[in-house]
Amino acid sequence: MSTPGSVLHDERSDSASDPRVRVLLLGATSLIGRFLTQRLASAGLSTLAISRAPPCSPERDVAQKAAGVLGWAQGDLTAPDTLPELPPADAIISLSPIWLLPPALPKLLETGARRVIAFSSTSRVTKIRSPVGAERAVAERLADGEAQTLSLCAAAGVACTLLRPTLIYAEGHDQNVSRLAKLIRRFGVLPLSGGGEGLRQPVHADDLAWAALTLIDAPAAAGKIYALPGGETISYRAMVERVFESLGRTPRILTVPPPLWRLGLTLASPVLKGATSAMGERMAQDLTFDAGPAAADFGWAPRPFRPRF
Ligand SMILES: NC(=O)c1ccc[n+]([C@@H]2O[C@H](COP(=O)([O-])OP(=O)(O)OC[C@H]3O[C@@H](n4cnc5c(N)ncnc54)[C@H](OP(=O)(O)O)[C@@H]3O)[C@@H](O)[C@H]2O)c1
Repeated sequence: MSTPGSVLHDERSDSASDPRVRVLLLGATSLIGRFLTQRLASAGLSTLAISRAPPCSPERDVAQKAAGVLGWAQGDLTAPDTLPELPPADAIISLSPIWLLPPALPKLLETGARRVIAFSSTSRVTKIRSPVGAERAVAERLADGEAQTLSLCAAAGVACTLLRPTLIYAEGHDQNVSRLAKLIRRFGVLPLSGGGEGLRQPVHADDLAWAALTLIDAPAAAGKIYALPGGETISYRAMVERVFESLGRTPRILTVPPPLWRLGLTLASPVLKGATSAMGERMAQDLTFDAGPAAADFGWAPRPFRPRF
């Protein structure tokens, strides 16, 4: 059993002769991480994942072996002192909330990494004027995290790229599309606030994993922030209809007048994780971003929204 601060290596590691890893991966247990660990392994890039969970927990061990991850280290980014002694590394990929990165970055950069790719969110833009204080606070933390990450990297002469995905899904694992699927399976019908005409661009976690891997060797992307929307722009209602279709069901959508929706969500928010009264209003708002710069700079071409449950 390892202790906090220790680094494990699996039997495929050749670290006895060369401790250098290509990638330090923060947030390997995230939605994107489950795909990125596999892509890194397929690309033959040695990786050290950092997680708060003990590296030997059965769940992590299975994930580590399946993904071919080189090693798994225990550490909490909010307490950089708990991070283990890290081996020399080439790149840092951060899939954890970006506001956790700046406090840990000085220690992580001691590895000699010259490349940082960090995920933020389009919520940085869409929630900055939310009527809900908690949502504005998230947007502000994202904004601060982005600014500090860029500034620390610039001061260290490290090439940094920030990525802002839209709504992320991975069939059966996310809290967005998969949650809709779960509700549809359970109730057979889904309520929407008004017409649900606001535009969305759901993006698959595996496409984001592709972007992170591709960007390791994309020097033209250094110092830039990219929006990473999904491959299709559709209304919230059409998104829900697609989820019904993916479950082999005819869409059954209940149109709820927005004031009634607001009241319902306000009452339900203490028991419904992540639910806020602003969610209904957002169903009428377009939350769209331009994929053009990412397409031009590194070939971003995500899949259309056809989830398969
Ligand atoms: N979900 C979305 O729809 C969405 C949309 C836009 C952008 N994003 C961004 O995309 C990235 C991935 O999102 P996600 O939803 O896939 O993330 P997630 O499933 O919530 O995972 C968060 C990750 O951060 C790690 N983490 C959290 N606190 C930590 C700490 N104190 N120390 C070390 N690691 C910590 C967790 O690792 P352990 O638990 O193993 O420690 C976990 O792997 C995030 O930057 C998020 O802000 C998400």
